[in-house]
Amino acid sequence: MPQKQFETRITRLFNIRHPVLAGGLMWLSDAPYVAAVVNAGGMGFITSRSSATIAEFEGQLGHCAALTGDKPFGVNLSTSRHTAVPLMDYLDAALAAGVRHFETAGRAPADDLIRRIRDAGAMVIHKVPLLRHALTAERLGVDAVAIVGMECGGHPGANTDMPAMLGGALAAGKLRIPYAIGGGIGHGSQILAALAMGADAVVLGTRFLAGEEISAHPAYKARMVAAGADDHMVCFAGNQPLGGAWRVLNNATAREVRAREAAGRTDYADFAELTRGSLQKEAAYGGGDVEAGMLSMGAAVAFIDQVEPIAAIMDRLMAQAAAAQNRITTLIRS
Ligand SMILES: Cc1cc2nc3c(=O)[nH]c(=O)nc-3n(C[C@H](O)[C@H](O)[C@H](O)COP(=O)(O)O)c2cc1C
Repeated sequence: MPQKQFETRITRLFNIRHPVLAGGLMWLSDAPYVAAVVNAGGMGFITSRSSATIAEFEGQLGHCAALTGDKPFGVNLSTSRHTAVPLMDYLDAALAAGVRHFETAGRAPADDLIRRIRDAGAMVIHKVPLLRHALTAERLGVDAVAIVGMECGGHPGANTDMPAMLGGALAAGKLRIPYAIGGGIGHGSQILAALAMGADAVVLGTRFLAGEEISAHPAYKARMVAAGADDHMVCFAGNQPLGGAWRVLNNATAREVRAREAAGRTDYADFAELTRGSLQKEAAYGGGDVEAGMLSMGAAVAFIDQVEPIAAIMDRLMAQAAAAQNRITTLIRS
């Protein structure tokens, strides 16, 4: 087992070997993926919203517990998007199953959500786009925050201008609680940079998309391996009623969305057939049709060069962080 390289407030809070959090991934952060992240020394979060029923969700939780040998793992709760099941029902099911680590994303978590997590002796990291949202979350009583830059795969929220490196540095010294930064991170040197800036961890999504334990079609993973740093695009930027900015793979569906936006179409109904989850879940992730569906992905995809186990990706990231640390040491004049 590789030596622990870094100890931070977040590695202590989550009791993890590496300062690496794998953020929730709609349809993809299921039990095998999250367990692989946990077993590789990071913390992963099962996306509750991907389960249409509590029974299905409980199945995921039980499966993950079996795969991690009862090592702690996390659950992602969406505080603003429509969920098949009420948010509190997902939370109660997770707490009943023994989950004590939560990632929330979306609107600032409500008082009763935080209270229920606290009362159960659990903890929550809230994911935000900008420092001002992080300060609000801190005031509301979350245990930690993740500040995610505009480069991120998926929804950057209100952040379409602030890159991770700038947002991370601006946060240094401003928060009392621990914080992670994310968005566009796919190389270990960026982990070292994040820690140097004052962050306690990084949050990754895109870099893991071709992980062996990701439950997706080989053609999808092959597309992730082939994709370069400019193969993503942003749809719905500035269009809050349609969900706001969404960074995805540049494919036929995303280009059609942009064409309809350019044609001035603004009704939800004009886009529903293109953005529906079943296209992502069944056609792309399940069926391997990479032109179908809005497939969340950021420029960190350029770091993916093969399909490999999550543990191998984690080991590479940590070796790259160590190499970056050594490089800095050699640059220091005595
Ligand atoms: C395929 C995919 C699906 C995502 N789905 C969710 C989600 O359901 N909930 C969430 O909080 N974040 C989601 N995210 C965001 C990630 O948790 C994470 O914050 C982001 O990927 C970090 O930026 P990066 O992709 O540049 O590493 C998703 C990201 C990707 C790539």
